[in-house]
Amino acid sequence: MEQTYIMIKPDGVQRGLIGEVVSRIENRGLKVAAMRMNVMSEESAKEHYKEHVERPFFGSLIEYVTSGPSVSMVIEGKNAVVIMRAVNGATNPVEALPGTIRGDFAVETGRNVVHASDSPESAQREIAIHFKESEVTSYSKVDEVCLYE
Ligand code: RTP
Ligand code: MG
Repeated sequence: MEQTYIMIKPDGVQRGLIGEVVSRIENRGLKVAAMRMNVMSEESAKEHYKEHVERPFFGSLIEYVTSGPSVSMVIEGKNAVVIMRAVNGATNPVEALPGTIRGDFAVETGRNVVHASDSPESAQREIAIHFKESEVTSYSKVDEVCLYE
C-alpha cells in the first residue's frame, strides 16, 4: 500500500474544516495511518518546503504554515498519492474544480487549506520529517475486502 503525507494547514484548522477534510479522505476509502495536531516548527516547515527556497513566496509560505496549529496525517491506500492530489484539487483554488477541497473551500493559493505529497518519494521524505517511525501505525481495516479486488 502507498502512503502519502497530508497536512490540514492552519487556515483549514481555523475555519473548522478538520472534520470535513478527514471525512472526505475516509469516505474515499483511504486509511488514516497516523494523525497529530501541532504548530509546525520553522525548522520542519523549511525542510518540508525546501524545494521552494528560492521562490519569492517562500518567506510568507513558512510564516503561514507555522502561524498556528495544523493537522499532520499519514494516509494509506492503493495510489494514495495521486488520489489525494485529486481530492485536494489544483494548487490555485481559482483553477480547482468544484468537488475538490480547494474548489469547495478556498479562494487564494496562499490560503489553500491542505497539502498533499506530489510523489511517493516526496511522501516518504515528508513523512520522515513529521513523524517518528513508531508514530505511524500499521493495521488492516475491515472495509479493505470491499475496496480492493
Ligand atoms: P502543497 O505542496 O502545499 O500541497 O501545494 P502544491 O503541491 O499544490 O503546490 P506547491 O507548488 O508545492 O506550492 C506549495 C505551497 O506554496 C504556496 N504557494 N504560494 N503565492 C504563490 O504564488 C504560491 N505558490 C505556491 C501554496 O500554499 C502552495 O500550496
Ligand atoms: Mg507541493
